[in-house]
Amino acid sequence: MIGSVNMKINAIILAAGRGTRMKSKLYKVLHPVLGKPMINHLIDHIKETEIKRKIIVIAKNSDQVKEAVKENVEFVVQEEQLGTGHAVMMVEPLLKDEEGITLVICGDTPLISSDTINRLINFHSENHADITVLSTMLEDPTNYGRIIRDNNNSVLKIVEHKDANEEEKQVREINTATYCFDNKKLFKSLKKIRNQNSQNEFYLTDIIEIIKNEDGKVYAYITDNNDEVMGINDKISLSLANSILKRTINDKMMRNGVTIVDPNNTYISADTLIGKDTIIYPGTILYGENVIGEDCKIGPNTEFLNVKVGNNVNVKHSVLANSVIGNNTNVGPFAHFRNNAVIGNNVRIGNFVEIKNSQFGDSSNAAHLSYIGDSEVGSKVNMGCGTITVNYDGNKKSKTIIKDNAFVGCNSNLIAPVTIGENAYVAAGSTINKDVPKGALAIARQKQENKDGYSKKLRK
Ligand code: UD1
Ligand code: CA
Repeated sequence: MIGSVNMKINAIILAAGRGTRMKSKLYKVLHPVLGKPMINHLIDHIKETEIKRKIIVIAKNSDQVKEAVKENVEFVVQEEQLGTGHAVMMVEPLLKDEEGITLVICGDTPLISSDTINRLINFHSENHADITVLSTMLEDPTNYGRIIRDNNNSVLKIVEHKDANEEEKQVREINTATYCFDNKKLFKSLKKIRNQNSQNEFYLTDIIEIIKNEDGKVYAYITDNNDEVMGINDKISLSLANSILKRTINDKMMRNGVTIVDPNNTYISADTLIGKDTIIYPGTILYGENVIGEDCKIGPNTEFLNVKVGNNVNVKHSVLANSVIGNNTNVGPFAHFRNNAVIGNNVRIGNFVEIKNSQFGDSSNAAHLSYIGDSEVGSKVNMGCGTITVNYDGNKKSKTIIKDNAFVGCNSNLIAPVTIGENAYVAAGSTINKDVPKGALAIARQKQENKDGYSKKLRK
């Protein structure tokens, strides 16, 4: 952050728009960019500034938006979507008596950085402005509001694309729809906005001309980072935002020493940390909050969602969610960790092994074809090929405990609740429904019988 603004700063986030251009059932601001709803990207960036109060304007019946936002914010409902100026008006009862700066920003501008927001705030307060618009220069300004300046280069007004004449359409400086206002001026001047325009909406952008005509101090602060300030209105710009953020994140990762074999084909969330000398192979998607150590190999074709991984871990062709892995562990190909798999160090989890809500201790193996659910597996345990923990009786889930050094033979069913003692053996093919004591061998299968010469009889 650059300098410190000695004034109270509040933020209004506009998120009530219908998002018609998305052609989607999902609220516009909930469309994810690299796995995270747009609005949460924005809130996370605002959180890194000195802004104290965050007020989000939502449409009625926006419970999904409320649920998605986990941060401490206030919500205000705009019953009818009558335009961006009208949306800001909804916040008047909460803010009208405040002194200080109000940042107005749109929920569909998820890529804007805290740095840019801070620069805008500093520019605004250094100039003692009444309003500062964040603008940028675009090669193709189509659909954006244009910043109209006079011969002295002072900002006169903003004209929406739909209302612009041919000359105004030539202007390449656009309104990013992020603004700083003197709070008192904002709510005083908002009342003067009218809806005589092509969309019959109360445009917030009209406030520029209103404040200007009252001899207010109106500025535009031009950012050259035009990728950051794009507004996402449809699925094309959504995919563009995904590529821009993907490139930004992958570049940062590579600068920090992560090897990404094919950055175009690797999707890493903004909330993922990766240690150096870790290699990410193509087709890998790391969404949510992940922490991955050094010297790991992740992918190809692997998905993480909220996964914590130690150092020197290999995960191939696997899908992992809400799980933790220690150091020097190998996973996959084709493993699936559902919620809360906690895997130790030096472990091997092989092909077609599914683990859910289980601890799996150091140096233990489940190398092939297993389901391990609601279990506590100690260290140096061998789970033979095809071992199944039978955790569900059609009614409730029960727990399987396998103590250190136990050896579970292939194709065993462990019917929970059940405990396999330390150093115990379970013979291959057993269906275990009683606890196996420490050091014991459990065999729970039919004895084999051989009938000599019978093959010939059968073939007749
Ligand atoms: C807006 C600006 C335009 C700017 C562009 C930048 C206006 C009139 N236009 O246009 O100058 O170049 O952003 O991306 O402000 N919203 C509400 N209630 C409403 C209408 C909108 O909360 O009644 C919210 C939307 O959810 C959205 C934001 O306000 O987050 C902007 O609305 P949108 O319709 O996307 O405006 P643009 O046409 O993109
Ligand atoms: Ca928009």
